[in-house]
Amino acid sequence: MRSNVAWLLCLHLLCAMSTLRAYPFTPPLDLDVTPRTTVPLKELWKSRRFSGSAVNYSTLLLEEEPGLLYVGARGALYALQASDISSSSHTIDWEAPENQKQLCLDKGKDNKSECFNHIRFLQRFNSTHLYTCGTHAFSPQCAYIDSKEFKMSSVFEEGRERCPYDPAKGYTGHLIDGQMYTASQYEFWSSPDIRRNSPNPMLRTEEAPTRWLYEADFVESALVKESVNSSMGDDDKIYFFFTEKSQEHSLYSGYSRVARVARVCKSDRGGLLTLQKKWTSFLKARLVCSLPDYEFHFNVLRSMFVLEGPRAEDTMLYGIFGLEWKNVKASAICRYSIKDVQQVFEGPYMESQEDAGAKLTEYTGKVPDPRPGSCITDQLREKGIKLSTDLPDDVLHFIRRHPLMSRQVLPLGQRPLLFRRTVDYTKIVVHKVTALDGQTYHMLFIGTDEGWLQKAVEVKGQLHIIEELQLFEEPQPVNNIVISQKQMSVYVGSPSGVVQLPLSTCHRYMSCFDCVLARDPFCAWDGAECVEITSRTDRSNLTQDILNGNEGCAKSAADGLVQHRVRSVMAGDDVLLQCELSSNLATPQWTRNAKQLKGYGLNSGYRIGTDGLLVIEAKPEQSGNYSCFALENGVRIHIVIYTLIVQQYLPLPPHATLHPNSNGSNLAPQPPYPLPPQFQSVRNMEAMYITLITILGGLCLVLTVVLLYVGFCVQSKRGKYSLRAAAQADRKKKRNDRMELKTISSHCNGKAKPPDGLLQIVPGEAQVSSNKELPPAPPLPPPPSNSELDYTNGFSATLPSVLRKMNGNSYVLLRQTDGDTTSPMYYSFTEELNQILEKRNHTQLCSKPDESSV
Ligand SMILES: *[C@@H]1O[C@H](CO)[C@@H](O)[C@H](O)[C@H]1NC(C)=O
Ligand SMILES: *[C@@H]1O[C@H](CO)[C@@H](O)[C@H](O)[C@H]1NC(C)=O
Ligand SMILES: *[C@@H]1O[C@H](CO)[C@@H](O)[C@H](O)[C@H]1NC(C)=O
Ligand SMILES: *[C@@H]1O[C@H](CO)[C@@H](O)[C@H](O)[C@H]1NC(C)=O
Ligand SMILES: *[C@@H]1O[C@H](CO)[C@@H](O)[C@H](O)[C@H]1NC(C)=O
Ligand SMILES: *[C@@H]1O[C@H](CO)[C@@H](O)[C@H](O)[C@H]1NC(C)=O
Ligand SMILES: *[C@@H]1O[C@H](CO)[C@@H](O)[C@H](O)[C@H]1NC(C)=O
Repeated sequence: MRSNVAWLLCLHLLCAMSTLRAYPFTPPLDLDVTPRTTVPLKELWKSRRFSGSAVNYSTLLLEEEPGLLYVGARGALYALQASDISSSSHTIDWEAPENQKQLCLDKGKDNKSECFNHIRFLQRFNSTHLYTCGTHAFSPQCAYIDSKEFKMSSVFEEGRERCPYDPAKGYTGHLIDGQMYTASQYEFWSSPDIRRNSPNPMLRTEEAPTRWLYEADFVESALVKESVNSSMGDDDKIYFFFTEKSQEHSLYSGYSRVARVARVCKSDRGGLLTLQKKWTSFLKARLVCSLPDYEFHFNVLRSMFVLEGPRAEDTMLYGIFGLEWKNVKASAICRYSIKDVQQVFEGPYMESQEDAGAKLTEYTGKVPDPRPGSCITDQLREKGIKLSTDLPDDVLHFIRRHPLMSRQVLPLGQRPLLFRRTVDYTKIVVHKVTALDGQTYHMLFIGTDEGWLQKAVEVKGQLHIIEELQLFEEPQPVNNIVISQKQMSVYVGSPSGVVQLPLSTCHRYMSCFDCVLARDPFCAWDGAECVEITSRTDRSNLTQDILNGNEGCAKSAADGLVQHRVRSVMAGDDVLLQCELSSNLATPQWTRNAKQLKGYGLNSGYRIGTDGLLVIEAKPEQSGNYSCFALENGVRIHIVIYTLIVQQYLPLPPHATLHPNSNGSNLAPQPPYPLPPQFQSVRNMEAMYITLITILGGLCLVLTVVLLYVGFCVQSKRGKYSLRAAAQADRKKKRNDRMELKTISSHCNGKAKPPDGLLQIVPGEAQVSSNKELPPAPPLPPPPSNSELDYTNGFSATLPSVLRKMNGNSYVLLRQTDGDTTSPMYYSFTEELNQILEKRNHTQLCSKPDESSV
């Protein structure tokens, strides 16, 4: 009965999935997208690597024209061939001298990281030279590099004003028309600052009476050429993106930091008396990245990519946001239009009364003219204001006290593009690709804190993660990503080195449906193989479907590559009929003699997982032809057929020989199927070994999951945060779920049962403030993006929950037995484990697996 309900719900789910297209409505929590395929390191294709003697390859500068990738590391700079970074390299060693290092150590700095020369800035200065800055053992220096010779100039410049001392401090900088714009908290004791350093006049942000920046942690900056074709003679602007301490306490209680965008005008020269050597055009606003309708804010900006459009107003911003709680892994991607940012800067100001701590309200008084914070436009020039130094005093006084805008910049669609639990993204780069349908799609390349790269395509405001690639053996954060259209490559910088990967590896997709379901704008099926569309000039026989991801392949292609296998087992044994699905988005479906298996519950005799079907205590009547199908995006692909022969168990005397027509022992009835010859060698060593391996393998998996779960619980109890949310099933079903932040202690003993559809932070019993005493991040298994633990809430009795396997690309679907405990998985596994163990004790597994015919 229960399994029937489960089956119906499953069916409902599958229907909902396959007909997504038909529903224009998308449930709000449909944002936690699973990467379609997982590519572990050993399956990575055509990757090229570079690592010199240095570490911390965090600064990348790609120049398409000479085809060079410049890399700034700790104590060294490299020039690599962009076509193949492993082929050849030129090196500049630039380490801080010993006496400088000693001074750094004397200051009490860390000898493992801080007292080195970390390259923080590397950009083109003029046609012959690059400009670079390094932390230089806590005494920043800058220098020119002759790019032809790849040699450093002998003259070094003091870098104190343009490069932070601390290698880990947030920093961004640009050389724009010979002027250097940087933002950081340059020294430990100084305030954060946005500066234009050279040439004169040098400009800075204001610190009194109103501080313009509060403990700002800078992430990115960009020039937007708003002067081009401007009808009002506008100026170019430089935008800065950062996280800072919130001044709007009252608005977001419980949140202490906010993400911001700030901007200055390129032609700003500061004020004459008021705001002398300070920006007159500095304005900032809050960047909102929140889940719609939920009191759940992603306030920490980690990375920002500014995607240029054909015109300045088409510029798009893609930001990666995280939560304030350091020990909660979660990321969101929000997308903004520069037009919305501009509109906010045209809107009302925030009244910043005395200083931090005072309540902020929207300023409703008179705003002086010309509008404070605006660039010098034609309108002002007509009035005789040709430079910012001509601005009237009242305007400057106003802007000095009102740098913050009252309105907030909301993401496009009022919600994140993506929201992922248990993953920390570190870096994003967006690339435009024209697909076969002539449309331009935005492809996102996203790096994680554990060294994975995810490739996603944005389709109609939704993200589809095409694949996740493991880049490094040792987990390490992705520090930087650049893309070369010319080389069709993506380069990733990390603590241990630089990796170059092709933008696409279409040949990985083996069938038409695999190619189309992948929805990679670079790839299409040509009738025989999946190819890069750029490799073909005649594209008439190519098939691709980015919009829906399921059309164009012949129906017969879904049955094309079926494998046929035969399995013979003794009655009472457990048999695993393997069926590995290459796609994480596919759902397995099994039929027996062309009829769908009804329910996979414990009592049904079947258990289903994404790596196969487990027949528990096989009975002779369970013999038959089993087919495994992969259901994905409305497409049903036949993967494998098993002919299962379950042989009645015959306790033979040791010398007995089986004969189909012999009476045999009268203890056993006549077997329903003729006995295959291999049964004559019951003690066949091979079979024994395989059995043993199967058992041990199964045990390992089960134990791992159990341990994982137990570990997870223990961590939670110790005061770890664990972020959990209702499983996708709940999401699909209950669309008006509320999400809230709740404190629940000891959920592992099954007392606190979270209500449906709640996203919860579970801090456990320990006090929240003692972060330092907390153990390190929970030892979730690699791969990082695979380490997702989903639990169903409420439906645990009827719906399968998804648990990702430790490695490899399959997600094991598990049925839970008991909805009344909150750790049903633990029990169901123990139960199952005992059951299987017991059985193994008195059953001889007798199989010769995978006798493939066809
Ligand atoms: C850093 O200092 C510690 C002791 O102060 C020493 O043991 C270690 O070898 C030093 N490491 C390096 C890289 O110099
Ligand atoms: C580029 O700048 C460097 C350093 O200031 C200078 O030596 C060089 O002559 C400049 N090159 C050109 C072409 O202006
Ligand atoms: C500016 O206008 C000119 C002429 O109207 C046009 O050719 C050009 O593409 C425009 N540039 C931008 C960036 O819009
Ligand atoms: C440099 O790399 C090491 C690991 O090789 C890492 O521990 C350290 O945090 C990195 N430092 C910076 C500033 O990125
Ligand atoms: C598709 O066209 C390409 C040339 O444009 C050709 O090489 C390929 O064989 C064609 N495929 C099929 C299945 O006809
Ligand atoms: C199973 O398949 C084989 C060949 O594919 C066929 O001969 C046999 O009749 C099928 N058995 C059943 C029970 O459908
Ligand atoms: C099988 O056993 C039955 C009685 O149990 C006996 O009548 C018959 O002759 C036997 N057949 C053979 C082939 O041994």
